[in-house]
Amino acid sequence: MTARKKEWFDDDSFWRDLYPFLFTEKRFADAPDEVKKALTLTKPKGKSVLDLCCGPGRSAIALAKRGFAVTGVDKARYLLEKARARARAAKVKIEWVQQDMRDFVRPEAFDLILNMFTSFGYFDDKQDDVKTLEHMFASLKAGGACLIHVKGKEGLAKIFQPLTSNVLPDGTIVVQRHEIFDDWSRIRNEWILIRKGRAKSFKFHHTIYSGQELKACLEQVGFTNVALYGNLDGDEYGPDAQWLIAVARKPGTRSASKSARRTKTSGRRRKIAAGATRLRQARK
Ligand SMILES: C[S@@+](CC[C@H](N)C(=O)[O-])C[C@H]1O[C@@H](n2cnc3c(N)ncnc32)[C@H](O)[C@@H]1O
Repeated sequence: MTARKKEWFDDDSFWRDLYPFLFTEKRFADAPDEVKKALTLTKPKGKSVLDLCCGPGRSAIALAKRGFAVTGVDKARYLLEKARARARAAKVKIEWVQQDMRDFVRPEAFDLILNMFTSFGYFDDKQDDVKTLEHMFASLKAGGACLIHVKGKEGLAKIFQPLTSNVLPDGTIVVQRHEIFDDWSRIRNEWILIRKGRAKSFKFHHTIYSGQELKACLEQVGFTNVALYGNLDGDEYGPDAQWLIAVARKPGTRSASKSARRTKTSGRRRKIAAGATRLRQARK
């Protein structure tokens, strides 16, 4: 594997310390409904699903409970341990793989790939996002679908505030600082958690995609039928949308050849009809 410089998401303690804030019981409780909606948007043709950047397994477990054969891939050992424990408790079998999303590829293995809850755009080099999409494309069966669920640039531009603060139910004060950089393509964040008089700071940065930018990246690697939504209910995407959801399909050889056959047949029909018209005109 290529040696890479360490990035913020490589630090397991980031995910451990923020776990109670990122993965609340409410977020776990929301997962079955999110998965149901994701399935409605993507209409997978089979039962094999990849939850890419599965974290503690929110979506993976909900999918397995619905009878899907699930593979969960994530880089953070701490989160995968949480995922394993929750899957055991839920009595579901899931294949867990600890790997970087840039490296995971399993040709033609999945009917569906989900990338949920802001798990895309983490890399300093945007080509690494494209590489991830290439691997997602390769890992899908023909006709398979993928869904990416992130915050969109249009919505962020509308509500952007460099400094916000709020108090969590347990009394923790969260101060958030945000800075946009790299020609409005990336965001640098600092979360400062203040609890019992002690402050701890967490810094991370990632790319923010507009709907059109994400669509272009998906099309660049071969995806077709890219549709954008503003939430998992399938509402329209725009500056007021809470989320940017992209659903895309890998061209299906079977359906493609079917439609090619249909085109051929209708071409033949058109030729016969044109011949009949010529004959009628010649008889007049
Ligand atoms: C915001 S969490 C979302 C987790 C999960 N998708 C969910 O819906 O709860 C982002 C996840 O991406 C994972 N991640 C970050 N960088 C990664 C990488 N380079 N390769 C694989 N996973 C990565 C993190 O470990 C974390 O689990």
